[in-house]
Amino acid sequence: MIDKKNILIGVTGGIAAYKVVEVASRLKKSGANVRVMMTSAATEFVSPRTFQEITGNAVFVEMFGDAAHFHVAHIALADFADMVLIAPATANFLAKAAHGIADDLLTTTILAFDREILIAPSMNTKMFENPATQANLEILKSRGMKILEPATGNLACGISGKGRLPEPVDICAAIEKIFTGTVLSGKKILVTAGGTVEAIDPVRYIGNRSSGRMGFEIAKAALSAGAEVILISGKSELAPPKNLKFVKTESAIEMREAVLKDFDSVDAVIMSAAVADYRVKNPAAQKIKKSAETLTLELVKNPDILKELGNLKKSQVLVGFAAETQNILEYANKKLVEKNLDFIVANDVTAEGAGFNVSTNIASIIWRGGEVENFPKMSKAELAEKIIERVADLLNKDKKFFPMNDNQ
Ligand code: CTP
Repeated sequence: MIDKKNILIGVTGGIAAYKVVEVASRLKKSGANVRVMMTSAATEFVSPRTFQEITGNAVFVEMFGDAAHFHVAHIALADFADMVLIAPATANFLAKAAHGIADDLLTTTILAFDREILIAPSMNTKMFENPATQANLEILKSRGMKILEPATGNLACGISGKGRLPEPVDICAAIEKIFTGTVLSGKKILVTAGGTVEAIDPVRYIGNRSSGRMGFEIAKAALSAGAEVILISGKSELAPPKNLKFVKTESAIEMREAVLKDFDSVDAVIMSAAVADYRVKNPAAQKIKKSAETLTLELVKNPDILKELGNLKKSQVLVGFAAETQNILEYANKKLVEKNLDFIVANDVTAEGAGFNVSTNIASIIWRGGEVENFPKMSKAELAEKIIERVADLLNKDKKFFPMNDNQ
């Protein structure tokens, strides 16, 4: 989740600043593009050069440092970042941020920043527990900033108590959690799941073995990524997840209507439903009684929902599934092209640990252009996360660039 993310770290003047070097290093190793801004007090504890070497990017301290390269640094830094981490955050920083004081590059950047901010306070226990600090923290929380509770232990001032900066690994975990929860915020995702049911008469139907698990996991993963989710389900015994719009459908025709109703308003559709290719031409109005030795049902083709979406699609991301029993990549690729999809998730439903009614899957993702990603056996929940990560990447691909010269 951190890979390719733009993370801005604000370092203020606390003894724990040295720990943030490791935070920057870990984020960088996870694939993030890391930039650091420091207060001048912070530079008393760690040299800007250390952060510069670790991140490979210039470090910003001065508001009006180098006139020749001045590009309204605080705005450029705020525009660059997907999130800001302030660590260690001193009591002085908390007080300034809570009251909108912008008297250096770091506090000014914070004021110009409107996305996720994670603050890791670190200070002497009494300073942390001081009602002024606590009131400032409450103000910052009420404005949506996330506060990482300080750890308890030995402090630089010689006492033991609450106020230590959490370990770098825990800070990075908190950052990861922020990204997991926001990559799809503001996006609306439609997921279909389960098998359709095609009536023969009021009692019997033609169905399939789909459990709905894959689609339900995808809906949950999309929710965890911050999306607004519509889950349109055919037959499934699973309880609908909370906090999403759940639409129960039976036949392919009903599912088609439900999907088309919302299609214009969504950013992506992930069709994991097992839609019956055929339906009974004339379902009986009453229960069919047993009489003749043979019974013939006439079937007619169902609409191909995904193909229709492929024709209608404007900017929506479209993802399909291909459950195959042979020639997996070839058949899946054909569907990818015919249905005008962004990518397709293919699997061999006869393989052990894949297919219907099991909690694992062994899948490949095939992209337009022919690239194939092969995944090992993993839980359907894990595969759902992979699919959602890729959908998020496609929806967020217009990344901001950083309009500053790194050699300044
Ligand atoms: N699909 C659909 N409407 C249909 C049939 C399939 O929207 N009437 C979608 C499925 O939800 C899946 C993808 O199309 O995402 C591929 O479905 P699949 O059943 O594997 O392929 P078909 O196109 O039906 O081809 P075939 O059954 O011949 O393999």
